[in-house]
Amino acid sequence: MKQIINVELKTRKVDFGKCETDLLAIGQFSDVKAPDTLSREIDRKLNGEIGRLIKLGDFRGKEGTSAVIYGNDRIGARRILLIGMGEKKKATLDTVRRAAANAAKRSVEIKAKSLSLALHRAFSERFDLTAMGRAMAEGTYLGSYRYDEFVTESENGRLSSLSVEVIDSDSAKIKKLDNGVKSGTIIGKAQSYARTLANRPANVINPPELAAVAKDLARASKRLSCTVFDEKQMAAKGMGGVLAVGSGSKTAPRFIILKYSPGGKTAGSRPTVALVGKAITFDSGGISIKPAANMDEMKLDKTGGVTVLGTMKAVAELGLPLNIYGIIPSAENMPGGTSYRPGDIITTFSEKTVEVLNTDAEGRMILCDALSYAVGQKCDIIIDIATLTGACRVALGTYMAGLMSNDGKLMKQLQRAAEDSGEKVWPMPSGDEYAQEMKSKIADLKNIGSKWGGACTAAAFLRQFVGDAKWAHLDIAGVEMFEKATEFATEGSSGFGVRLLTKYLMNLAGK
Ligand code: BES
Ligand code: MN
Ligand code: ZN
Repeated sequence: MKQIINVELKTRKVDFGKCETDLLAIGQFSDVKAPDTLSREIDRKLNGEIGRLIKLGDFRGKEGTSAVIYGNDRIGARRILLIGMGEKKKATLDTVRRAAANAAKRSVEIKAKSLSLALHRAFSERFDLTAMGRAMAEGTYLGSYRYDEFVTESENGRLSSLSVEVIDSDSAKIKKLDNGVKSGTIIGKAQSYARTLANRPANVINPPELAAVAKDLARASKRLSCTVFDEKQMAAKGMGGVLAVGSGSKTAPRFIILKYSPGGKTAGSRPTVALVGKAITFDSGGISIKPAANMDEMKLDKTGGVTVLGTMKAVAELGLPLNIYGIIPSAENMPGGTSYRPGDIITTFSEKTVEVLNTDAEGRMILCDALSYAVGQKCDIIIDIATLTGACRVALGTYMAGLMSNDGKLMKQLQRAAEDSGEKVWPMPSGDEYAQEMKSKIADLKNIGSKWGGACTAAAFLRQFVGDAKWAHLDIAGVEMFEKATEFATEGSSGFGVRLLTKYLMNLAGK
């Protein structure tokens, strides 16, 4: 298998005009008519070419657009890449992130070896330079990523690596930018790691394979440890939910537990957070089988789980002062002679019984065991992330994840992390009315509700397994993939959640 493109990112103090690079990316707002000092300086050296291009109307600074101008012997850059950033008054931190993504994606497309980013210059003092450095780094990884492990032909290919730098002529600014670039690089690489795992098809990654990946991850860090329960250990513990879902597949389910412990003596006084991720390596629906159209997308049904892996990787590299569990129940949902069936009553790890009315509502069946496990580990805060319901995609589209919680403060903290990370969430209910629908006449619960509000009833089901812990649920069915390539990313897994969860934990740790 071929390696995913290797992108390295640094900061460098250098004069913009002298910076030797394949591409020098500078930002342009659509409503700022006069070019800023940086553009003016470069424009002068290019004999007014930027000005002429803008005057001709070939480039208007609209977000998602870009224009290339070739360098000359008066500047170090071989090309200037103008990146459109839309209206200045509407700009957010995500504008910088997307601008960097656009620049990085273009760089890979034209096979540039080096890219120098000066995008932050257009923002003047609007955002903190550390936050902008982080956003540029995250954008760089988002945009340069391509999933091509299995593409053997070299035509239309790409280079094996891209070297990126954030540049400024002021060393005080570089220092602040570098702070953000360092954490942003860790987060960006972790997100790419998650995207690759998510993009791998179900014949390549099954639950035991995913467990092996988690073991490898833990081996690479002294602060991470990994325990895996196989089907026999799960049976001994009574993890009936995960076992039921996995029972139709030739590859057995796994229960993966990653534990991150910060060094130092403060570890005990820090809150313990559990991240719980749904990892169905393929969701055929089981006996309640799905229609054929787009069923291939269900290889992405492990996204919540791999997002937790990616976040644990980032957390370990950042060295955050928190205790964190990553709990990943993993199964393949397949129809077969040994599958669980509609009508079955399953005793879950919590000892609550569940009447299965649809084997395609399998996410909640594996998550309930994982939530109970987190409660057993005395976690103060439990956040689960899952491609749980088509209903969430119907409700919110592909722009935001559904956010349900039993704690107002936790909800606000996640909303703030969403703003910081550009991975958006929208609050949805999961209270008593919805829980009422999940009651069964012949068991404690049933696994589907009525026709309406499917995202909310699914969350209300999960809520019954968290006890007194502060809990939040992210339904990422809808945001887990980019359906089509855009200027900012190629199609396939989005790795949604790595930035959001990592930023939530960074904020919680006061970093
Ligand atoms: N993995 C699916 C949800 C999903 C759908 C994710 C579309 C991404 C895109 C989940 O396991 C599922 O099948 N949910 C059912 C629940 C229903 C049977 C109550 C659904 O949404 O139809
Ligand atoms: Mn399903
Ligand atoms: Zn599913």
